[in-house]
This record gives sequence, structure tokens and C-alpha cells, in this order.
Amino acid sequence: MTPRAADAPQKTPTQPRAAAGARAAFAPGKVILLGEHAVVYGVPALAGALAAGVRVKPAPGAPTLCVPAWGLAVDPAEAPPLARAYRAILEALAIERPPCGFEVEFELPTGAGLGSSAALSVALVRALGPACGRSLERADELRAAMAAESVFHGRASGIDHAVAAHGGFGRFTRKDGFQPLPAPRPIRLVVGHTGRARDTQGRVMRVAEIERERPDETRLRFAAIGALVERAERAIGSGDLDELGAAMNENQRELEALEVSCPEIEALCREARGAGALGAKLTGGGGGGCVIALAPDREEAVLAAWRGAGHEAFVTAVGAGA
Ligand code: PMV
Repeated sequence: MTPRAADAPQKTPTQPRAAAGARAAFAPGKVILLGEHAVVYGVPALAGALAAGVRVKPAPGAPTLCVPAWGLAVDPAEAPPLARAYRAILEALAIERPPCGFEVEFELPTGAGLGSSAALSVALVRALGPACGRSLERADELRAAMAAESVFHGRASGIDHAVAAHGGFGRFTRKDGFQPLPAPRPIRLVVGHTGRARDTQGRVMRVAEIERERPDETRLRFAAIGALVERAERAIGSGDLDELGAAMNENQRELEALEVSCPEIEALCREARGAGALGAKLTGGGGGGCVIALAPDREEAVLAAWRGAGHEAFVTAVGAGA
């Protein structure tokens, strides 16, 4: 006699369960003080972690990556960039299928050049480890986050996720990675959003085109940016903020010549200098996104100028004890 369906042993569908240690993870956003774009070509850049960043929490159920701020929930098998970045992280860590889902919460504006995508990648790796019962090292974080950054940004130097993984303030090169730098005191910066999304991928591609069209001129610009980074590093070491501000202003002129600025960025730089900033420049990929201003004792004036012109702005600090 064949058993009736009702007599057959019932299989209760089991949801994969996260390892007992599953917990929320955090990684910070960043500002690049000097050296963006040239850093892709081997020049050093100075960057620091922000206090604000991205949190990733394990969520029961299917291994979906859910980003409420973007109205997105993706499975690693899907095609959108977020799903491909998620898949790239899983592949880099040799995780076939995570035992739970994850939910992402941003504490900083996204698409602004403040490293939100790298912070997401690093925080996701940090959440995946305990959820999968794996102990992951810094090297795993860097490798997996780099795989995701390549999906988000194409040709990436690795600076964003190096800062997200290490925290603190330091100097980054493609060759030597992130090296912490002693900054005798925190460097206070005013950060203002142009209101236009930054265009890292497009601007990185444009710089590559310019390098092909005018190689000699472009290499001289990269070298000039490298020299400004060295100058800024010395100025930070000696606490000479006038010198640091001057290096930032010159870096902005080089970035404008590399066609990664835009009218909104130039307007914010002008407004900041008009309000007493010693230095102002774009930070990150450019084409939009954020401007940083070094304005010791004039931070409130820069904030007022930017907010008065309708921009979101805040004060932050990078470096020692920030
Ligand atoms: O826009 P962001 O925050 O991803 O910064 C990109 C920095 C670049 O130097 C333009 C690109 C890179 O990968 O270094």
C-alpha cells in the first residue's frame, strides 16, 4: 500500500539559520583630503575616516541584501550593481549562500564622495563573518570589499575601502596600501554637498581619456598633485594650516584641469573661501558630490554661507583623536 500524502513524513521547510554570533557591523565613511584621481595612477593620497558610516544588521530569512534608503532588496543571483557587488563579496570569501539576510543603514549621504559604498562593503563583510561562523581578517575585508568596489566604480584605486577597513587618518598608495599618519591634532573640516550626485565612474573614465589624449601634460599634473600631497603631509606634521589650505586650493585647480570639477563644486569652493576658508576642494570622485573646506575659527561662517545657498553641510574632523 502506497502511503497517502497525509501519511508521508512531513518535511518542514527550514529557514537557514545565522550562526549564533550574528551581529550588526559598522564601517566608517571617509574624506580624501588631497590626491583623489591621481591616486588611481600610483600617486599617494591623504584620507581619513569619518565618525559616521554604514551599519549592516543580520535579518532573518532569505539571504537578501536590503537597502531601505535606496528602496532595494537584492538576491546575490540578480543583475543590478548592488546584487553583483554582493555576489562579488560572497565569491571573494568563498561563501556559497549566507544563512540569513542583511539590512543596510546609512549614517551619511550616499553618492556624495564620502565613501558610503566602500563602508557598505566593509560593514557587510564584517557582518557576514560572524553570521557564517567565519573569522575574517583585515586582508579578507580588503580583498572582498575591493571586489565590490570594482563593480561599483570600475577602475578603483582601493583607497575608499582601505580607509573604511583601517579607520583613522593616513596616506594611501596603490603599491603600499594604507599607512596611518601621525596628525598631532584633529583636522577640522566643513563638508558641503553640492546637491548633485558625484560621478566617480564617469570622471575616472574621463581622466583615463585625457591621459591617453595628452599623456605628458597629464603625467605632469599627477606629479604636481603628488608634490602637493607631500607638502600637505609636512604641513599637517608641523600644524601649519595656512600651508595645508594652500595645498588644498592648488589641488583643486589641478582637479579642475583634469575635468573632474563642475560649476557647483567651483561655486562651493568660492563661497567657502569668501567666508574665510584657508582651503577648499572637492573630495572623492567629483562631477558633483561634496566639497571640503579647511576653515579654522571660520567653520560657522562657511556653514552659514553654504546653508544660506541651500546646501547641506556639516563639520567633521579627521586625524588624531578625531
Ligand atoms: O567618489 P569616491 O568617494 O568613491 O572616491 C573616489 C576616489 C577616486 O580617486 C576618484 C577613485 C579611486 O578609486 O581612487
